[in-house]
Amino acid sequence: MKNVISRRELVLKTPLAIGGMLLTRSLLSFGADDDFAIPGKEGMIVRSLRFLDLEMPVEYANSFITPVKHFFVRNHMHEPSTLDLGQWRLTVSGEVERSLTFTHAELTKMEQHTVINTLECAGNGRAFAVPHVPGVQWQKGAIGTARFSGPRLREVLQRVGVKPTGKHVMFRGLDEVPGKVPPFIRSIPMEKASDGDTLVALRMNDSPLTKHHGSPARALVPGWIGAASCKWLSEIKVLDKEFEGNFMSPGYRMPNMAVKPGEAVRVEDTHPATALNVKSMITSPRAGASVKSRMVIRGVAWAGEADIAKVEISTDAGRTWQSAQLAKEQSHYAWRLWSYSWNALRPGSYVISSRASDSKGRIQPDSVEWNPSGYLINVIDRVQINVQA
Ligand code: MTE
Repeated sequence: MKNVISRRELVLKTPLAIGGMLLTRSLLSFGADDDFAIPGKEGMIVRSLRFLDLEMPVEYANSFITPVKHFFVRNHMHEPSTLDLGQWRLTVSGEVERSLTFTHAELTKMEQHTVINTLECAGNGRAFAVPHVPGVQWQKGAIGTARFSGPRLREVLQRVGVKPTGKHVMFRGLDEVPGKVPPFIRSIPMEKASDGDTLVALRMNDSPLTKHHGSPARALVPGWIGAASCKWLSEIKVLDKEFEGNFMSPGYRMPNMAVKPGEAVRVEDTHPATALNVKSMITSPRAGASVKSRMVIRGVAWAGEADIAKVEISTDAGRTWQSAQLAKEQSHYAWRLWSYSWNALRPGSYVISSRASDSKGRIQPDSVEWNPSGYLINVIDRVQINVQA
């Protein structure tokens, strides 16, 4: 796969994502060349260039670990333009016995713990919401699985000594904040912060974090929406209550009860989005593909803090379901690859569907459960294919 994105792909693949003005400016700034490259990335779908938002094409979700070059990127604002590892510091303060500042070298000397985590943006699948909801129009690929490592957050917290008043842990990133945009600051409850798998991650897939993914350090809050895992971490603060700010409220909140599509929801009737839903995705064959009658249908399934119990496939638009085979490779918080061998008896057009269930008894819904921001959409995945004569 070439490591450049052509103008044609940009225009064809992002008709809704980039406003007319921005698209024109972005293209002009790349001059007369037809193609341009995004360093460290290959074959991605550009959802925004102003603040880099890159979606992974579905067919790359074909391995347990997603290569960094194919891992989606979600930035609310500009990435830090300069980051000097020698100068960089992580300060830890707030409801603690002693505030401390950590250098990168100090963090690398602490015990390193590894977690394989499927990171999914809360807005993944938003493009399928009807009626339309604002935000990056992610289709299926704001997701990836990587091996993250670094010190446990709880060990960092043990060094500063959390006071009994410490109930939430706040993260601040070093994003460059344009104009009136509020800074990217969010918090997680102490219970999740103290979990042995919540990290100050320094490495991704056995290499230092790249800039797009939050170098030199990011929070890694496994099983939770991607927004919990703050990139370019510069400050950790222990608070006596949940952080109040744009990215906690009104951002990243779910309605407390089902809402009618298109209905407004009062912020008092919402709660913060935390763990991911149970969900699956068909990665092969691709939508619209013309295939021979004998095929293997493949995909991935994940469930946030729960484990995948079952994936079922329907080849008759949801009338009947058969179990797919789950691949051996598994790790708590990571997606599971699955496959299903199928021989279509007649040529023609088919809708194949995948439906995952998890260890908490959750199952993917038949239709989109609409909410005003299009968060945590986990409707059964459906792909139309043509079986050749
Ligand atoms: N951290 C900072 N500092 N700034 C951001 O814009 N985006 C969040 C999260 N951490 C973000 C951030 C969101 S919404 C997601 S989905 C994940 O980062 C995406 O992580 P990735 O870009 O490494 O895939």
